[in-house]
Amino acid sequence: MSHTEKNLQQEIDELRERIRHHEHRYFVLDSPEISDAEFDSLMQRLRDLEELNPSLITPQSPTQRVGGKPREGVSQVSHSVPLLSLDNAYTDGELREFDRRVRESSGRETVDYVAEMKLDGMSMSVIYQNGMLLRAVTRGDGTIGEDVTENARTIRSLPLSLAPSAREAAKLPDRFEVRGEVILEKNGFERLNREREQQGLSQFANPRNAAAGSIRMLEPSIVAGRRLDYYAYALLANGRVPLAEHRQVLEMLADLGFKVNRNWRQCRDIEEAIAFCHEWESKRETLPHEIDGVVLKVNPVALQEELGATAKAPRWAIAYKFAARQAATTVRDIQVHVGRTGALTPVAILEPVPLGGVTVSRATLHNEDEIRRLGIRVGDRVLVERGGDVIPKVVRVLHDPEPESTREFVMPAQCPVCDGIVAREEGEAASRCVNVNCPAQLKESLLHFAARKAMDIDGLGEVLVEQLVDKGLLRSVADIYKLSEPTLVELERMGEKSAQNLLQEIAASKSRSLERLIFALGIRFVGERTATILADHFGSLDELAKAPAEDLETIFEVGPKVAASIYHYFREPRNMELMERLRKEGLRFTQERKARSASLAGKTFVLTGTLERWSREEAKKRIEQAGGRVTASVSKKTHYVVAGADPGSKIDKAKSLGVPVISEQKLEALLQ
Ligand code: IVH
Repeated sequence: MSHTEKNLQQEIDELRERIRHHEHRYFVLDSPEISDAEFDSLMQRLRDLEELNPSLITPQSPTQRVGGKPREGVSQVSHSVPLLSLDNAYTDGELREFDRRVRESSGRETVDYVAEMKLDGMSMSVIYQNGMLLRAVTRGDGTIGEDVTENARTIRSLPLSLAPSAREAAKLPDRFEVRGEVILEKNGFERLNREREQQGLSQFANPRNAAAGSIRMLEPSIVAGRRLDYYAYALLANGRVPLAEHRQVLEMLADLGFKVNRNWRQCRDIEEAIAFCHEWESKRETLPHEIDGVVLKVNPVALQEELGATAKAPRWAIAYKFAARQAATTVRDIQVHVGRTGALTPVAILEPVPLGGVTVSRATLHNEDEIRRLGIRVGDRVLVERGGDVIPKVVRVLHDPEPESTREFVMPAQCPVCDGIVAREEGEAASRCVNVNCPAQLKESLLHFAARKAMDIDGLGEVLVEQLVDKGLLRSVADIYKLSEPTLVELERMGEKSAQNLLQEIAASKSRSLERLIFALGIRFVGERTATILADHFGSLDELAKAPAEDLETIFEVGPKVAASIYHYFREPRNMELMERLRKEGLRFTQERKARSASLAGKTFVLTGTLERWSREEAKKRIEQAGGRVTASVSKKTHYVVAGADPGSKIDKAKSLGVPVISEQKLEALLQ
């Protein structure tokens, strides 16, 4: 290297280090030391030098946050240690109960906890290798997530490289993992929704959905403009927490340059932790971001390890969830919305009222019976509530109705969209439009198909679907795959770039999993969970379509109502036609069947007493699903007797025959 080259490299290194320092001050600590203009000029100088000397650009340079290429579809990565969920508590009693379990299984008198904000975003794991951000992966189903590295790199509070001095001090191995939450602050969320409104795109329901939707987008340059944030709350090295206390984890993460929510507190015992929960329940609005509760974590890591985890959540942590926020407002009108299955849902149009960061102007009233039950009339003052991601709902009417100023709601006899006949079947709460060609139903089916949890076609939102259906461009879900750039650019507010993005999204949706496709079809009563079960069980859409109703019913967790709905869906010629068209478009109709456990193969069980967790029927189904058999009476051939509360004489019989008697918990463990 010549002298000037050396100087150049040195200047670039210094600039990068200074920028990294100031990014940390600004985006992580929220306390800048220099003006924005000064910061920009440092960045510009670095950009200029790199432009003249492209060979000196490295992926860790602060100029390279948006360096990556758009993702081509989604690549899946498995987590080395699963990202678990948290058990919830809603009352002080449940928190004390949690504490009692922790103390009892550890034999300690008191346990200290670290209480942290429960950030309402999307969890993400980030791997660092030799001090550099290597890979970022979403939670996914906890075992397998999506590689979102290029998008994560655009988050300015997430370090691309760690300061060598901090790394040295931390004494971590070359490779370690940080876990935390991707969030969008409330003002960033509002700004994003305003922009989307101007562009005629659908609104995100809350900051969490916006953050989750953004981090999973295919185009890093768009993600960069969304101003996401990342808060770290866990550290793993070789699959374990590398420190003795959780509080040290938070301190080390901050020392390494990560953003750690500073409102955590170490609590001496559960009572102190409970007080902390209440304190933040009343202070939550003061934060720039949404929290939906407080997470309590056992502080000593050795105790965390001793307590371990269930398949779903650690036994050493619990989420205290805040109560739903409520507000009073007036019902201006009651309108009727027509859903995907033709169901007519009355919706209360409210005097807009702020409720925990968002303005609420509508609330679902579910059906006619609910309106009668609540006694709501148009013009009433009502109490509305919004919890987590649920749509706001009306809790109750606030004062006696004043007949002069209020009026009764009557369910229309004709569909408000197509004038079709409305019918309410015996025993059903919903009134339905029976016109199968009702455009409202088509629009809803399309939106459901494209929804994030279904085929995840970002950009195919309400405004666009509305236009496409009204112009006759979408007459069936399969028509989505016939859309072309020339047709799209003709539409209002649709530029070439957005059209291309949408077509890319549509193309990417063809490779979605079978479970998503089954869910996306919108078969009545088939939610996400049932769709997953069906996909696992049949492994192909054709096998599912062929299945007789009796076979469907034998599947665990599929009841007769659901089975009948699935059966009829696939006997409707129009639906079969749709299936054929989707097949021709190349959608994924198969997936590997998950090996179903036959852990109890050949084992015979007798159930006695009242089971707490499951009904007898359910326990029986579960045992059979795992290959076991349930019989009525105890004999020498019985392998286990499962005893619930108040067991009968079967226990004595079992004891006399030497058959093991097990608890419900034990059964649960066997099933796992
Ligand atoms: S700890 C194994 N800490 O809440 C421990 N999670 O409902 C699990 N979350 O999936 C994570 N703030 O996305 C932890 N301070 C916090 C959190 C937090 C938000 C999320 C996380 C998790 C979900 C569980």
